[in-house]
Amino acid sequence: MRFLLLSLAITVSAVASALAAEEVGDPQAGFEYAKNVCSACHGISAERSPMKKATRFREVADRPGVTGTALRVWMETSHPTMPNIIIEKQDMLNVIAYILSLKGRDADPR
Ligand code: HEC
Repeated sequence: MRFLLLSLAITVSAVASALAAEEVGDPQAGFEYAKNVCSACHGISAERSPMKKATRFREVADRPGVTGTALRVWMETSHPTMPNIIIEKQDMLNVIAYILSLKGRDADPR
């Protein structure tokens, strides 16, 4: 019985850490990804967006109500003016972590 409980506890914690690892993005990897994929249109750092209509990520981050969930819903929904970018789930979580890390940065273009 004790063994059973122990293995159950191990299973539960393994599942919990797998879920946690899956849901947390790496902002540094997100920056690299954004540089390769998103920067064609969006200003991903201090620079202006190359495409005027694409909001600079710093401004996205500072918008009230912008959370990881809000960004995720946005990115998982096709958007008329943004081509349907095929983005792997982990890349998406990384990019979201990167965008959220920009909260509170100076929003003025240099
Ligand atoms: C081909 C150009 C293009 C690329 C590449 C692109 N976007 Fe966009 N994105 C746009 C445009 C244009 C808008 C504004 C859409 C609108 O508001 O109608 C937008 C809007 C957004 C928004 C909503 C911003 C807001 O104003 O609320 C997010 C978030 C976003 N993009 C994330 C990304 C991410 C992350 C990537 C890279 C994986 C990416 N985009 C790549 C053109 C692009």
